[in-house]
Amino acid sequence: MKRLCIGLITLIAVVSLSMPVNAVQKPAKKIKIGVSLPTQRDERWVRDAQKMKDVAKAEGIDLKMQVCDNDASKQMSQCENLIASGIDILILAPHDATSAAAIVDNAKAAGLKVISYDRLVLDSDVDLYVSFDNYEVGRLMGEYLVKRVPKGNYVVFAGAPTDNNAKLYREGALSEIKPLVDKGDIKIVSDQWITDWQPTIAMNLTQNALTANNNKIDAIVAPNDNTAGGVIQALEQVGLSGKVLVTGQDAEDTAVDRILKGTQSMTVFKNTKEQAEDAIHAAIKMINGEDVGATSKVNNRKKDVPSILLKPIVVDKSNVDEVLIKSGFVKVK
Ligand code: BGC
Repeated sequence: MKRLCIGLITLIAVVSLSMPVNAVQKPAKKIKIGVSLPTQRDERWVRDAQKMKDVAKAEGIDLKMQVCDNDASKQMSQCENLIASGIDILILAPHDATSAAAIVDNAKAAGLKVISYDRLVLDSDVDLYVSFDNYEVGRLMGEYLVKRVPKGNYVVFAGAPTDNNAKLYREGALSEIKPLVDKGDIKIVSDQWITDWQPTIAMNLTQNALTANNNKIDAIVAPNDNTAGGVIQALEQVGLSGKVLVTGQDAEDTAVDRILKGTQSMTVFKNTKEQAEDAIHAAIKMINGEDVGATSKVNNRKKDVPSILLKPIVVDKSNVDEVLIKSGFVKVK
């Protein structure tokens, strides 16, 4: 008994000596993540925003999100406010790939790391890029069309010229189409950029292309689902919807409806929910000084940016049920 008491007293003494005075555990500081998104006009960005909020909530993180409505200077000032509000890291999906480099400079000057989300910020010292293989997204569109329409009149639409992704989608699509142009089998009758990815511009440009070619158009590269909607509206006006192949990307609910109806040929599915989750998790790891598990590098003209790139999947009538409906990713009417 005596020995047990001495033992206990020694143990208590050792433990109390090794503990600092007033060793009350402070609650860990809540991590603050700032997110700047370009728009909520395309459904995909609504999904990204929701998923980021859900993941942040589950992880007990304070998420501050701003949307700049396709306005580069608004994005600049929103990010200045985020930085001033004491965020620990910035997740930035730039409206303008080039001018957003100044946002990265500001964040860096405040000692923050920056994750370039979906769209790459060019000429900047971003720390991580979380996106898809975007050249591949475009290549999949081009491949889909040339396999089904190896000859004929093509319209090639690209997204916003301010978005680095739009360039990659276009290059990817042309890598499949151009060899057949050189062979003389395909003629590109219209090749246009669509400011801010606006569907009404896509509709107007399609109307112009139809008129200029006596409605003789066989395939149209629409760079995303929202612009595909505009393209298909123009085709409907001349009774050609479902007769001309039209691409897309994003697996928007309305695009899936059109695929089932046969007016849109395909979409490229990018699991943006997974992408949003990856970005939040990478942000937490970076704040904690852990490795984020980047698997590739993408050059942004200033550096090779460590990157996490997810895989895009082609979806058309043949697999839409399997990939998008049964999985619950989209809800169709
Ligand atoms: C995204 C697309 C989106 C487009 C327009 C691109 O940067 O990668 O998924 O459709 O922006 O918002």
